[in-house]
Amino acid sequence: MSAGVHTVAVIGAGKIGELMLSGLLRSGWPVDRLLATARRPARAEELAARYGVRVVDNLTAVDEAEVLAVSVKPQDAAALLDEIGPKVPPGKLLISLCAGLPSSFFSRRLPEGTPVVRVMTNTPALVDQAMTAISAGAYATGEHLALAEEMFKPLGATIRVPETQQDAVTALSGSGPAYFYLLVEAMTDAGILLGLPRQVAHDLIVQTAIGSAVMLRDSGEHPVKLREAVTSPAGTTISAIRELENHGVRAALLAALEAARDRARELATQAE
Ligand SMILES: NC(=O)c1ccc[n+]([C@@H]2O[C@H](COP(=O)([O-])OP(=O)(O)OC[C@H]3O[C@@H](n4cnc5c(N)ncnc54)[C@H](OP(=O)(O)O)[C@@H]3O)[C@@H](O)[C@H]2O)c1
Repeated sequence: MSAGVHTVAVIGAGKIGELMLSGLLRSGWPVDRLLATARRPARAEELAARYGVRVVDNLTAVDEAEVLAVSVKPQDAAALLDEIGPKVPPGKLLISLCAGLPSSFFSRRLPEGTPVVRVMTNTPALVDQAMTAISAGAYATGEHLALAEEMFKPLGATIRVPETQQDAVTALSGSGPAYFYLLVEAMTDAGILLGLPRQVAHDLIVQTAIGSAVMLRDSGEHPVKLREAVTSPAGTTISAIRELENHGVRAALLAALEAARDRARELATQAE
């Protein structure tokens, strides 16, 4: 299997499904090699108008596409698979983008031998800066993983992980953008507390976030080293860090990510 020569159907093209469609199109995937499905007719019209893709019903998608990218909410996955599972012809690849759901959830509902790949991406896909983790489920070969990589590479970085790590990935990078947005929001408020106009505070912290992110990615330095470079003896930064430690920010992050991981597990149980 190789990119662009196979038809990909995005089944349940909501927020994440749309990110995938638009990313594939930006990367030059031929529009006649893409299909989408939606539950509401208004959503179907919107997708067709915005991207020029053919929006079809789920069973047509299953019939026509070689790759089925399932991007419904976890709680909608069982109903979807009741509908399409028994009708999936041999030789199709199912890629799940659903948080929490193990590949076995799909395998149990698909004809024996259907390869399943589990993927966790994130919303920076919108600006081609996604982090996408890819795992092989039942019957998925290296070729299937390579195809999934080719599909998600244009959206940002990709990494292969064992499926046992996917709930942790969901907690860290799947939900991750939300933690950074919350930090930026809180730091903007702090700037306002210190007397800065809202827009100035926002611009200062957004550019600081971008600069820090690029340094983390490109300098090759450990985050501790980068932080130490801003932390001079008896200076301002260490005073702030003392407060962050007093308020348990590190412990809060450990607990928060554990809660997200547990919620991913719960979603899988509830979806059954
Ligand atoms: N949002 C994120 O940041 C994020 C990150 C990583 C992974 N994910 C995963 O991505 C998946 C989708 O999340 P989302 O935020 O994109 O949700 P969403 O916007 O609600 O998208 C799901 C779409 O699936 C459609 N749908 C549901 N059942 C269907 C069916 N039987 N046939 C056809 N279409 C159907 C829904 O239609 P209606 O609009 O009519 O309800 C909706 O448009 C979830 O499993 C989530 O865990 C999300």
